[in-house]
This record gives sequence, structure tokens and C-alpha cells, in this order.
Amino acid sequence: MKIAILARNANLYSHQRLAEAARERGHEVDILNTLRVTLNITSHRPEAYYNGEKLERYDAVIPRIGASITFYGLAVLRQFEMMGVWPLNESVAIGRSRDKLRSMQLLAKAGLGLPVTAFAHDPKQTDDVIRMVGGAPVVIKLLEGTQGIGVVLGETEKSAKSVIEAFRGANVNILVQEFIKEAGGTDIRVLVVGGKVIAAMKRTGAPDDFRSNLHRGGSAELIRITPEERSTAVRAAKRMGLNVCGVDLLRSNHGPVIMEVNSSPGLEGIEKATGKDIAGTIIDFIEANARPGKTATRGRG
Ligand SMILES: Nc1ncnc2c1ncn2[C@@H]1O[C@H](COP(=O)(O)OP(=O)(O)O)[C@@H](O)[C@H]1O
Ligand SMILES: [Mg+2]
Repeated sequence: MKIAILARNANLYSHQRLAEAARERGHEVDILNTLRVTLNITSHRPEAYYNGEKLERYDAVIPRIGASITFYGLAVLRQFEMMGVWPLNESVAIGRSRDKLRSMQLLAKAGLGLPVTAFAHDPKQTDDVIRMVGGAPVVIKLLEGTQGIGVVLGETEKSAKSVIEAFRGANVNILVQEFIKEAGGTDIRVLVVGGKVIAAMKRTGAPDDFRSNLHRGGSAELIRITPEERSTAVRAAKRMGLNVCGVDLLRSNHGPVIMEVNSSPGLEGIEKATGKDIAGTIIDFIEANARPGKTATRGRG
């Protein structure tokens, strides 16, 4: 097969591993810098160009679209879909996963466990929002944040209020969440590929940080997950419509709760923690499922 990887930085571990796993299996791979792809949106014959040259037909595309270029990245991916290239994750599903509020609403509707979460546009409602999630301490997060940036713990009513007001004043959208203290600065990343759990790791934050993101200095280790955690992750992936995703769970007093579903999960932490060839599993999935020329976006909310 001829596979394109849409990625801004070809040298990242995850992108290198996916390219290597594909080449090992005899596929041709191009890593395309998403921002250098230009689009020609003409009826009947959609085209994409790379550094001025027309891109030939790919059989499959692996979108690795960073949060900071979601808008353009999704436009490029849609163009590939229009050209009949089979996407590992569809543009619509990635778009869903990028908005934390939209994701939570979809997961809640599917009956999946979530931290109690509130959202208000009007800054005058701050007291109500804090009360709605059970009072301080609360977690305040940017709707489109990533890698732990923009996730803040409001330990007291007063500090929570000032953080919420500061974010609202800066005109950014946030959500406010019950703080799952019993998770103890640890979360579980479950990797789902094609509706199956293929790996799981426990991530623990740096000392004195409640955020367990590896980008924030957290560490990862192998973990055995419970059947309930497994089914939560699989159902979340299905509801989001993602073939490949990292489902982040917290162990709360009321069972597993989903924090987010990541549509471009990093491979380095989880391959090293579990010793598994995750990139290879992803390429195997593409081999078994890619249907070039028959792509259809199953948009559902
Ligand atoms: N409600 C919460 N209760 C306890 N810890 C949380 C909560 N929300 C987030 N965290 C911690 O902060 C980290 C980052 O939050 P997350 O929502 O995943 O944002 P990001 O997209 O920036 O990674 C999580 O991995 C978790 O360790
Ligand atoms: Mg996260």
C-alpha cells in the first residue's frame, strides 16, 4: 500500500515508528508536513499539492494532527477523504474529540462514567458552576487544551473563582470539573485500536502535580485494567468513532471516569512502558481495514 502520514514533525518518535512499521511490512510511506499541503477544492476532482507538486493517490492516510493546527489539519484530512484516501481516523471523529465539552456530552449520552462537569458562558454564574460540581476543590480546564497545559486545580472557592474569572476575562472557553482526589495524581491511558484494547499504562504526575501528563514530567508503568475499565474505554472509542485512540481514565470512588479521548495518542510512553509493538498493530489494522476509494464520513453529531 501507499500510505501518507500527516504530521508536522517527521522526526517525532510516534511518526518514525509508524513509518518504520509500515516499511517493514512492505508499504510505501510518505510523511507529509500537514501545513505544507495545499488544497484545490474543485468539484469532481479534488486535489492536494505538496511543495508545489500534485500528490498522487494514497491508499490510506494516518492523521497525526496536533491540537495547535486542528483547523487546517482537518481541512487537509477532509481533502484526502474526498480524494478517496482511507483515513485511519476520520476528520469528523477527530473534530469531535478535539472539543472537550462536545466529547463529554456525547460520552454522557452513551451512559459512560465522567467526572461531574459544568460549563457556563456568563461569568456572573461562577458561584453556581462551582456549586454544581460539589464546591472546591475543582479542576478548571481549557476546552481545547492539551498536554496538561490549561488544566488548573482551584483548591479553594476563592482561588477557583479567580481562575475561572481570569479565563473568562481572556475570552477562552473552559469547563469546571469535580476534582477526583482519590486518583492521587495518577491516570490510566488505555490504547484502543479497532475496538480492542491493545495496551494500557498508568501515568503518575511529577511530585506535587495532580496532572499525570508525561509532557509535564509524569512517569509511566504497565498496569492491568479491570473489565469495567476495559469496556469503558472500548465504548468511548466507539462513541467517538475513532479507530485508534487513547482513552484516559481516572479511578474514582464511583468507578472509572473518562477524562478525555485522544485521537493522536503518543506511542513512545506506551511502547516503552508495555514493551509492545503498538505501531505494528496499527499498521496491521490499516492492512486489514483500509478501503481506498470507498471512504465515507459517518458524521453523527
Ligand atoms: N477532574 C479531575 N480530577 C483529578 N485529576 C484530573 C482531573 N482532570 C484532569 N486531571 C489530571 O490532569 C491531567 C490533564 O487533564 P486532561 O483533561 O487530560 O487535559 P489535557 O488534554 O491537557 O491532557 C489528567 O491526566 C489528570 O492527571
Ligand atoms: Mg490528557
